[in-house]
Amino acid sequence: MNTTTLSEATATMDQDFIPEIELGLLAERASISPKFLYDPLGSHLFTAITLLPEYYPTNTEKNIFTQYQNEIAQIVGIGGTLIDLGAGNCQKAESFFNSLKPSNYIAIDFSVEYLQDALNKLAGKYPHIQMQCIGMDFSKHLSVPDTSSNTKKTFFYPGSSIGNFVSSEALELLSQIKKQANQGGLLIGVDLMKEDSVLMAAYDDPLKVTAAFNLNILRSINSHLGSNFRVDQFRHTVKINHTENRVELYLEALEDLTVTWNGNSRVFKKGELIHTEYSHKYTIESIKQLLKNAGFASTHIWKDPKDYFAVIYAQ
Ligand code: AVJ
Repeated sequence: MNTTTLSEATATMDQDFIPEIELGLLAERASISPKFLYDPLGSHLFTAITLLPEYYPTNTEKNIFTQYQNEIAQIVGIGGTLIDLGAGNCQKAESFFNSLKPSNYIAIDFSVEYLQDALNKLAGKYPHIQMQCIGMDFSKHLSVPDTSSNTKKTFFYPGSSIGNFVSSEALELLSQIKKQANQGGLLIGVDLMKEDSVLMAAYDDPLKVTAAFNLNILRSINSHLGSNFRVDQFRHTVKINHTENRVELYLEALEDLTVTWNGNSRVFKKGELIHTEYSHKYTIESIKQLLKNAGFASTHIWKDPKDYFAVIYAQ
């Protein structure tokens, strides 16, 4: 068995998140961190989102990976440790195993249960790759265990997950990656700014899968906190913020209501919003600048024909 789990027990993780959740709910402008979108049901709903024709990022990135597979492998170089940030079902990383030929694969995700299953299957298929999975909230702090000391580390951060972070947080995470990359680098997928109509369709799809994904965060919070959010008292709302270059997801209260938990309560007025997610959209210039500020000296960029999405290797 090549798999090790370094996660803390789920029970202790739960405790850790309660103050953070309470702080967000009790703020004047209520918010819930997007990491709570990815409970087991939420993870499956996100997978469903990636299958929607309107949700272009996943497919566009996949096409770029497929089209430029060899070129990317040439630039990134083979061997070393592949560190997958937000690995999920590990499928994207697996698509690089044959071209990048990593000796070690470290899969990191917030929810380790989902990850462990995926990794067990993968370990059987690629017995020559040392595999390890870690349950970690790397949005706060990233620390990757040292595998074999001198091997190059390639960080893999696909799917434009970097878009969840405001620029100060993104800069912090990218700087931590740069510091830990040794002679390696970062292969990252970044969503690019585009017309409102395309963004609205992707984040407010007609089948309402994204609405279900967003609303499910209330059930996820209920199970962490023991709160009594009622999903039917809220609706999924999307705004495009042109000043900050991002899509913003909210849950809007459909009536006056009070949510209670463990001696606490929060009143929501009809129309009041709970912020749940940012999805920042970059330009090639803005992402290059951010990577430079994080300490990366050079970038290689691959894009799709419509310029919807960019895959970047930064060193
Ligand atoms: C996983 C953060 C990249 O922002 O597009 C998809 C999450 N939210 N639909 C994104 C998401 C609503 C997604 N990221």
